[in-house]
Amino acid sequence: MEQYIIRGGTALNGEVEIGGAKNAALGILAAAIMTDEEVLIENLPDVRDVNVMLEAMIQIGVKVDRRDRHSVVLCGADIGDVNIEYEYIKKIRASYYLLGALLGKYKKAEVPLPGGCNIGSRPIDLHLKGFKALGATVTIQNGSICAVAQALKGRHIFLDTVSVGATINIMMAASMAEGRTVIENCAKEPHVVDVANFLNSMGANIKGAGTDVIRIVGVEKLHSTEYSIIPDQIEAGTYMFAAACTGGDVTVRNVIPKHLEATISKLLEIGCDIEEFDTAVRVKAPARLSCANVKTLPYPGYPTDMQPQIGVALSMAEGTSIVTESIFENRFKYLDELARMGAVSKVEGNTAVISGVEKLTGARVSAPDLRAGAALVIAGLAAEGITMIDDIIYIQRGYENFDLKLRGLGAKIECVNSEREARKFVLMVG
Ligand code: EPZ
Repeated sequence: MEQYIIRGGTALNGEVEIGGAKNAALGILAAAIMTDEEVLIENLPDVRDVNVMLEAMIQIGVKVDRRDRHSVVLCGADIGDVNIEYEYIKKIRASYYLLGALLGKYKKAEVPLPGGCNIGSRPIDLHLKGFKALGATVTIQNGSICAVAQALKGRHIFLDTVSVGATINIMMAASMAEGRTVIENCAKEPHVVDVANFLNSMGANIKGAGTDVIRIVGVEKLHSTEYSIIPDQIEAGTYMFAAACTGGDVTVRNVIPKHLEATISKLLEIGCDIEEFDTAVRVKAPARLSCANVKTLPYPGYPTDMQPQIGVALSMAEGTSIVTESIFENRFKYLDELARMGAVSKVEGNTAVISGVEKLTGARVSAPDLRAGAALVIAGLAAEGITMIDDIIYIQRGYENFDLKLRGLGAKIECVNSEREARKFVLMVG
């Protein structure tokens, strides 16, 4: 199994290009099949989740022409099957976006129920509530969700919890329902806005995305479009924290600074200098980070997907910090791994109290999930000595060329496949 091996202690310096947003791409790929015409999507991140989603789409008959790593032409004219196979939903939960897209277009869809994952139970009751409100009959049988409707009719839908997935899924189905739909208490994440903008570029009539009320007037048909996905705010934030934790000076390029406001605010609070440009942000770390308290919230609050990254920073900061995870119920597992590198923390429910230590030391750790894995890489880059990270397949789900981009910033990191390669790395870096 592939591992990352890291010799820590090098300050990261330089510039790194940020790719397209994975969590926008997954919704946009699903929405693209809602027309029978060709759709060109650019700035696609070449990450495992996107590639698995494309495989799931091929399986139901979508024509997929991967022009290059970062652009694809899709055509949903010949979809012969509205039943997504379990193997795909098992690999990526977001295959459930095909439910909203297929239901909107064909008024029927069958998708296996996504299980939970390492960060929580991840229910999809709100997605199903929205589909039922639009007039679909939704049943669960043999582990799959079957949704079917004579016709979808626009309705007033209130989401009990702010949910990115439910907002996107219901928005897709409603974009081809008859009449007006209002979705209240929507998620406002940039990737929700990106999916709405994409659908509008195909002829949908969606207003209010990015606010907590989205108004949709359904249309009968959607048409071809060419669309470029927004930059990934979480990939950008991850490199910004890598700079902060290694005493570095890094500029993330091809970003939308507005999307990074909560992350920038916390980096300033823990002592970093920040310089904002039109499409770039520069992060300069202090000699020692300061403690801070942080609570994850739906956008524009501090993102849950950046919680492990700031947790690592606070584990090395001067003083004691409190991290409150208000979105998912099990997103502190990385602290158990971090303790093996010398971090000191105590988790009570959805709160972690982190007492900063002078330095972390390298150890062999395992990535519990995507963002926690990336955070452990940051810990390894900052720690003294050698860190080995297992289960990096989680990290490869959402970070394109992670080790290559980090090496571009001066990091001593390799992706190795054997003990021999690991030994060679250690001899090389000394
Ligand atoms: C999306 O997950 C992202 N994934 C997650 O990123 C991200 O952490 C999350 O939004 C929050 O920003 C993708 O976009 C593919 P939610 P999603 O529905 O849509 C509860 C990453 O690292 N809820 O906004 O599944 C849910 O349990 C991943 O890239 C219900 O109760 O998240 C959670 O507590 C990890 N019922 C809260 O809402 C529902 O029907 C927010 O979840 C749906 C959600």
